[in-house]
Amino acid sequence: MRIAMIGTGYVGLVSGACFSEFGTEVVCVDKDSSKIERLHRNEIPIYEPGLDDLVARNVEAGRLSFTTDLKAAVKDADAVFIAVGTPTRRGGGHADLSYVYAAAREIAEAIEGYTVIVTKSTVPVGTGREVERVIRETRPDADFDVVSNPEFLREGSAIEDFMRPDRVVIGAETDRSREAMRQLYRALFLIETPIMFTSLETSELTKYAANTFLAMKITFINEIADLCEKVGANVHDVAKGIGLDGRIGKKFLHPGPGYGGSCFPKDTMALVQTAQDVGAPLRIIETVVDINAKRKRQMADRIIAFAGGDVAGKTIAVLGLTFKPNTDDMRDSPSLDIVPALQAAGATVRAFDPEGMHEAARLLPGVVYCKDAYEAMDGADVAALVTEWNQFRNLNLAKVKALLKEPALIDLRNVYSPQDMAAAGFRYESIGRPVKPR
Ligand code: UDX
Repeated sequence: MRIAMIGTGYVGLVSGACFSEFGTEVVCVDKDSSKIERLHRNEIPIYEPGLDDLVARNVEAGRLSFTTDLKAAVKDADAVFIAVGTPTRRGGGHADLSYVYAAAREIAEAIEGYTVIVTKSTVPVGTGREVERVIRETRPDADFDVVSNPEFLREGSAIEDFMRPDRVVIGAETDRSREAMRQLYRALFLIETPIMFTSLETSELTKYAANTFLAMKITFINEIADLCEKVGANVHDVAKGIGLDGRIGKKFLHPGPGYGGSCFPKDTMALVQTAQDVGAPLRIIETVVDINAKRKRQMADRIIAFAGGDVAGKTIAVLGLTFKPNTDDMRDSPSLDIVPALQAAGATVRAFDPEGMHEAARLLPGVVYCKDAYEAMDGADVAALVTEWNQFRNLNLAKVKALLKEPALIDLRNVYSPQDMAAAGFRYESIGRPVKPR
């Protein structure tokens, strides 16, 4: 089979490379010619562990190629994946689907023979049905089916998530399209991955329900963490104690500064909008969105309080800027709320992030960007650990102590243990753990 992957953003590039690794011939298409030229030189526009090797290997094997020529790619394809961006529309939480429908029109003009059109981007319920209508309207004679196949991969472990998914959800309503999708995912039969076939609407909603549920789970443990601090309990033990109940599950119960990234913030807002539009509001998720937004701002207040309440003229070292480790993605990262609030309170921010500084420099002006964690802490009053990169897990505490004006670390990711930090002579604060355990 041959695939055309429209859009070489995060999802498109990872999915295209992974399908080619499964042995399928994949042509990745993007309108941005500079991006395609870079890909021809094997320059990967995003940071994702393992992706450069995967792309190089499959390009070499002749299974993966890149082009700006959508027509040619689609004409020869058995399946065309739409993996273009669906940013949040200005002035509301709705997803902007103009790129999806524009792609659908272009695809319609180019298809030859039976073609399966698959929406891979996260799209609101009803989008697949609308894509179907757009294609039919553009090319009444076309022989096609529209399928929804949402992507559940996480940045930083995207390849592993694609290759070994917990499940594959496919909204496909004809035998022909189901068979084509089975063929594309046949590599997963060996590892007995559950493949679920549903209607278009069910598949589209499943993606949003999954992401909003996970966002809710994180937000729940974040609030429990705040409560733990008030009553002297330890959130990690609470998380373990509830997580061992199979009905709850252990994952996504790690407290922190609030969720960020390209999916949870956008998808929670989009589902809230959809639900309001159809008169079935999701009040739980509305609250989750609200709590998470406030939480990010509260983190800055916590750091300021930790630094003595008045940070005018003080210097704060910020370790980690991306929304999570192993990515260069800064989208909706808690640091985007935290750093400007510290600056507004009069502090100088010295920061280091292993992959995010290029993007951070654009989004966070006025920060002193440093070459490593130690340089960031050199002469700072206190340090704040904001993203749990491995580089920050094993800091030389004696060295840190010598560099900071006061040995004081506020750890928003609970990387260190309060006991170890006390033993090392630090004033230390983390999320949801008592300073002195009982
Ligand atoms: C997420 C979903 O996991 C993925 O299935 C979907 O397709 C896209 O969105 P991603 O945004 O890459 O993936 O990152 P993820 O690892 O899920 O983390 C999201 C945010 O939640 C991060 O800000 C992370 O720091 C935070 N998080 C995650 C927590 O605060 N606590 C946790 O226990 C887990």
